[in-house]
Amino acid sequence: MTAKLNVNIDHVATIREARKTIEPSIITAAVICEQAGADGITVHLRGDRRHIQDRDIELLRDVVTTYLNVEMAATDEMIAIATRTRPDAVSLVPENPGEVTTEGGLDVIQNFETVKKAVDSLREAGIFVSIFIDPDTDQIDATKRAGAQQVELCTAEYAELTLSSRAAHGEGAQKAAAEVSRIAAASVHAKSLGLIVAAGHGLTYRNVAALAAIPEITEFNIGHNIISRSVFVGLAQAVREMIAATSQNTN
Ligand code: PXP
Repeated sequence: MTAKLNVNIDHVATIREARKTIEPSIITAAVICEQAGADGITVHLRGDRRHIQDRDIELLRDVVTTYLNVEMAATDEMIAIATRTRPDAVSLVPENPGEVTTEGGLDVIQNFETVKKAVDSLREAGIFVSIFIDPDTDQIDATKRAGAQQVELCTAEYAELTLSSRAAHGEGAQKAAAEVSRIAAASVHAKSLGLIVAAGHGLTYRNVAALAAIPEITEFNIGHNIISRSVFVGLAQAVREMIAATSQNTN
């Protein structure tokens, strides 16, 4: 089975916010991604609103016909926005002041009460809940106890290990292979608990095939690499290329 691809279009808004203007349109971007075959659209509403704005969520809710997944921190402010705008899914992520991007998975064990309260409110509003965590057995167990329906396994470490050509051979290749095994084992464990398994962060046309071969992973959330490539080939082509990349080597 081929995993679904949600395209994260945050960085279309990053370009718009660089000038605090009206273009490029996040709505046009969402429609182009859907028409090119994306299974869903993902955006991250950050506390500092550095790219996606509250109004974008409202507009996207009206326009997206596939699946709208909004990443957010488990704060009262964010949960109120989600329960009002009703995306199809919310992915709870950690957020640290000053970070360039999400730095790792949410520590569900450490923040259990806060996370559980957020999950309860979201599920009561009929929203599907995913939690972005490191590929770690204890975090997966805590995610299940918190009542989420899905885990999104953080692939940042794998992405880092595959960034340079050193990953192609020797010790670099061994480390990358070990991280793939860790993600595969976490996927099997999460699925055995009845959780749906997604993965994302730092995935590229070059490194995604090894994860696309893990049958338990049924969804990828990929942004930066697709938007980067779209600068050169256009967004529709960039999405199509990623669909091809995530469809390789699947069982
Ligand atoms: N999944 C989560 C939870 C994220 O926070 C991000 C980045 O916003 C992504 C996936 C996409 O990561 P990237 O832009 O590196 O593909």
